[in-house]
Amino acid sequence: MPLSALTSLDDFYQLLAASLKDNSLTKLLLSKYKGADKSLERLTIRPLTLQNEPVLCFVYQHQTNHITKNYGYDEGVEIIKSLLSSDFKSAYLTLAGAEIQVEISKKGKLKITTHKVKENADSQLQHNRDKKRFVDIKRPFLTQLGITDKQQNLIPAMSKKWKQINKFIEVFGQALEVSACNKGEPVNVVDFGSGKGYLTFAIHDYLRHSLHNDAQVTGVELRQGLADLCNETAATLDHHGLSFVCGDVKTHAPKQTDVMIALHACDIATDYAINYGIQANAAIIMCSPCCHKQIRPQMHSPALFKPMLQYGVHMGQQAEMVTDSLRALFLEAYGYTTKVFEFISLEHTNKNKMILAIKKNQHNGKEKSEILRQIADIKNYYGIKEHCLETLLAENSKQNEV
Ligand SMILES: C[S@@+](CC[C@H](N)C(=O)[O-])C[C@H]1O[C@@H](n2cnc3c(N)ncnc32)[C@H](O)[C@@H]1O
Repeated sequence: MPLSALTSLDDFYQLLAASLKDNSLTKLLLSKYKGADKSLERLTIRPLTLQNEPVLCFVYQHQTNHITKNYGYDEGVEIIKSLLSSDFKSAYLTLAGAEIQVEISKKGKLKITTHKVKENADSQLQHNRDKKRFVDIKRPFLTQLGITDKQQNLIPAMSKKWKQINKFIEVFGQALEVSACNKGEPVNVVDFGSGKGYLTFAIHDYLRHSLHNDAQVTGVELRQGLADLCNETAATLDHHGLSFVCGDVKTHAPKQTDVMIALHACDIATDYAINYGIQANAAIIMCSPCCHKQIRPQMHSPALFKPMLQYGVHMGQQAEMVTDSLRALFLEAYGYTTKVFEFISLEHTNKNKMILAIKKNQHNGKEKSEILRQIADIKNYYGIKEHCLETLLAENSKQNEV
C-alpha cells in the first residue's frame, strides 16, 4: 500500500499486518495513554523470535517498572487494534524505509502523517558493525534458513538469531584455536537438539567455507520433521558433510566426535549431551542449558537462606547456579578447562548462559579427586541426592570396569 493512501485506522492495520508478513516492521510505539492504569506511560512492540517462533514482544513501560508480554502475530495485532481504539491515542510505526504517525484527538479525529526514511546514522552504524561479524551475511544458507531475504539483507525479525549465530561462531572459533583439534584433519561435530539447524548450518559453513576444513557435522534432533526439513535445506545448498538425523541424545550411538554442541537442550538432555562429549573425549564441549528441573525439588537450603528464597525467582536462580556449577565442576574433574559465561544478552530470554569446556592436554588424578570431593561437599550442603550427569558418569565407569 502506498503511504499516501493511508487515511483510516483500517489502512494502518493493513500496513501493520503487511509489515509483519514482509518482515519490514522494526518497532511500534503506542503513547498518550488515557486508560485507568495511572502508572502506565507507553507501550513498545517489536517482532522477535522465541524458541524459533516469531512473536510480538510488548513492553509495557510503567513509571517504575517494565512488564513484558509476548504474543503470536495474529493475537498481537488484535490487541494493538483494541488498545488503539480505546486507551492509547498515539501510535508511531517504524518500518524499514518509512515512519508512520497516527494521532487520535480528544474528539476522535484521526491524523496520519508519513515520511520515508533514508539509511540513518544508526543503520549506518549497524552496517559498520555487520562488517565485523564472524559470519558473512551473504552466505546462501542464511537466506535458505530465513535469516536474510533474497537480496541477502537481514530480515529485521531475525536480528536476534543473527546476533546469536555470530556470537556462537565467535566463541567456537576462539575455542577451536586453543583446543587440541588437529586443524589439518576434518573436524567432527555433533549438535544435539539441532532444531531448525541455525547453529548447525553456521558451524558447518564456518568450518568448511571460512576455515577450509573438510568437517563432518551432524545435527541430532528428536523431531523427525525438523531433521527432514534440515536435510532438504542442506541438499539444496552445497553443504557436503552436513547431515541431520532423527535421534535422542539419551540413546545416540557414540561416534568419533571432536566437538559436542547442545544449545538449549531441555533439563537433563544437557547432562546426557555432556556425558556423550566426555565419553567421546571431545576436544570441545559447548552447551547452553535450558531448564533446571532435576535439582530444584531436591535442594534443602540452610535456614539462613529462607528469607531470600521465599521469592520464587531466587529459588530458580539458585537451582540453576547449583546445577550448572556441578556440571562445570564435573567437566573440570574429567580433564576440561571450563568457563561459564553469558553467551549473548538475548532480550526476553534467560537462555543465554554457556558452559564451554576445552579438553586439557594433561590432567592429574589428584586434581580429579579434589574436585570430586568439592562436588560431594556441595551436594551434601544442599541435600542433593541425584545429579543426572553424575549418575551417567558413574554408569560409564562401571561399564568400563566390566
Ligand atoms: C529449544 S530448541 C533449540 C534448537 C537449537 N539448538 C537452537 O539453539 O537454535 C531444542 C530442540 O531440542 C530438541 N530435543 C529435545 N529433547 C531432545 C532429545 N532428547 N534429543 C534430541 N533432541 C531433543 C527439540 O525437539 C528442539 O528442537
